[in-house]
Amino acid sequence: MPFPYTRKRRLRASQAIRNLSQENHLTVDDLIWPVFVLDGFNRTEAIHSMPGVERMSVDVLLDKLTPLHDKGLNAIALFPVVEKQHKSDDAAEAWNPEGLVQRAVKTIKSALPELLVITDVALDPYTSHGQDGIINEQGDVLNDVTIKALVMQAKSHAKAGADVVAPSDMMDGRVGEIRAMLESNKHHNTAILAYSAKYASHFYGPFRDAVGSAANLGKSSKATYQMNPANALEAIDEIAMDIEEGADMVMVKPGLPYLDIIAMAKAQFNVPICAYHVSGEYAMLQSAIDNGFLAEQPTVMETLMCFKRAGCDAILTYYADRVTEWLNP
Ligand code: PBG
Repeated sequence: MPFPYTRKRRLRASQAIRNLSQENHLTVDDLIWPVFVLDGFNRTEAIHSMPGVERMSVDVLLDKLTPLHDKGLNAIALFPVVEKQHKSDDAAEAWNPEGLVQRAVKTIKSALPELLVITDVALDPYTSHGQDGIINEQGDVLNDVTIKALVMQAKSHAKAGADVVAPSDMMDGRVGEIRAMLESNKHHNTAILAYSAKYASHFYGPFRDAVGSAANLGKSSKATYQMNPANALEAIDEIAMDIEEGADMVMVKPGLPYLDIIAMAKAQFNVPICAYHVSGEYAMLQSAIDNGFLAEQPTVMETLMCFKRAGCDAILTYYADRVTEWLNP
């Protein structure tokens, strides 16, 4: 029926009817908080390109996590800041059972056993050159050699008690090898969140500052393994392969500029779809907020709602701590 019988504004006339007719909701259950961990005790460091986000030693992180977990925050993703003396060409520190991530997982899981701890499976914090894999003399990232290292890394994370291992490296075939290793080591319930549609994006710049891999990477790019930002259909193949190999959940990354990929993935696949609202997206938003150009809470909440509308089940966002407080003050 045309106007005036149909007036779309009727369902916008009051807060109550807007609530009733709202299609999507954002709750604390949707959030995963990515955190940068430092070795040592009682340490925090500001990150120049991510104002408002800090690197923290595990004790400081635990002090922040305990009240957030009480308010419903379910999940964190750990990213280590690895000191220079632990970086090498073969990234061996990545699977050190007493490494920073492995110790952090043990400490956090014993203090907060119900909090889901997700670990990043990729070699970039540990390589002297900042690539996500092992390279040859020409600087090419070697797929199958890297997988062997990733499997050892994932095994050490699972042994330490990680609930979810999240390969973010984009090597072909790594999900299947990691799943096989987990099964043969009786880690049946360790889930895999695969960074399946991960693009070679310039929005990762601040993250590389935060973990200290930017200088090592220099002008090299990750374009031989991460996806071309111009491609959409290829993401379907990447996601399908990872699910086939045993991924329990898949990730699209970056987030906001790639909502079309999220929507497409949600329409085609039945596993949970996660998105990473990455460091560069955080930096853009927060810089405008800090300048007084945008209002923090409503703009951040709108941004995250847009992820839900696109079809996201969970969102990794550096705002997860603030949003938890806003949702459950
Ligand atoms: C690397 C990794 C990156 C991010 C998460 N894991 C950066 C990269 O691929 O260079 C980026 C996250 C962010 O920008 O917030 N394994």
